[in-house]
Amino acid sequence: TLINLLEIDGVMLPVISKEIWARVCNFQARPDDLILATYPKSGTTWTQEILDMIHNDGDVAKCQRATSTERHPFIELTFTHKEKLDLDWANEMPSPRMLKTHLPSHLMPPNIWKQNCKVIYVARNPKDCMVSSYYFHKMTSMLPDPKSWEDFFEKFMAGKVVCGSWYDHVKGWWAAKDKYQILYLFYEDMKRNPKREIHKMLEFLGKTLSEDVIDKIIYHTSFDVMKENPMANQTGVPTHIFDHSISHFMRKGMPGDWKNHFTVAMNETFDKHYKKKMEGTTLTFCTEI
Ligand code: PPS
Repeated sequence: TLINLLEIDGVMLPVISKEIWARVCNFQARPDDLILATYPKSGTTWTQEILDMIHNDGDVAKCQRATSTERHPFIELTFTHKEKLDLDWANEMPSPRMLKTHLPSHLMPPNIWKQNCKVIYVARNPKDCMVSSYYFHKMTSMLPDPKSWEDFFEKFMAGKVVCGSWYDHVKGWWAAKDKYQILYLFYEDMKRNPKREIHKMLEFLGKTLSEDVIDKIIYHTSFDVMKENPMANQTGVPTHIFDHSISHFMRKGMPGDWKNHFTVAMNETFDKHYKKKMEGTTLTFCTEI
């Protein structure tokens, strides 16, 4: 079940064929679509749950209606274990829709911009993103075997991984936020102060919720609760696709695990590379936490 990675503009994407890619590019958005965009392993599933809870005014039962994969179609993923392409299924979904994407901003279907859809982008510290991605590659049969941690470290820095360079992704979306309706959030901020970040989401969506409901959302979407929620923890994905005995999808759920994986030498190499790649941007990450 290794998925085909099609190279578009130097970016490896989980798309089966050029024909399907043409359909992704032609995706017909609706003005009330909400798009959740992330680089892989940056807190997508977590934010999906928060946004669904917001949408359903904190009604947990409504958020249990289906798995997160089923609730929010993944625009470009042309998955093989599902009967239907997410794309087709999105087309049939009633409004308002919430859609998920890992596309770099410059490869987004243009109609999304034309319809002026709201986009929430979540970025995560690259070191933790890399570690999370390494374990994900190990547990899923969809992506190529990451080989050794050292190999993966090099590949990640070079951007030779699915969805391309982390640097290009976060910087591209950072620049895009000045042109379109984009709320740019950070995984670490959500972890540190979920209430403040949920308030930012509410303001962006033009919605108000009582503090009680917000507290309920924070509880329901906390790592420990989500880890036990079969509609969010991805345990419903067939075991030949996600092997949870190798690593859980809900693995650690906190900043700083990179410290258990980066050697001192790797950290120095990474910091140097990071500095060079992030030169000239106002976008900053705390890579020391
Ligand atoms: S994917 O495959 O790209 O959609 O993965 P994504 O959901 O973006 O990222 C998976 C990582 O997010 C962690 N996670 C959470 N962290 C904090 N709180 C909550 N509720 C939460 N839910 C998921 C998940 O554990 C992965 O990170 P790591 O570092 O591997 O634990």
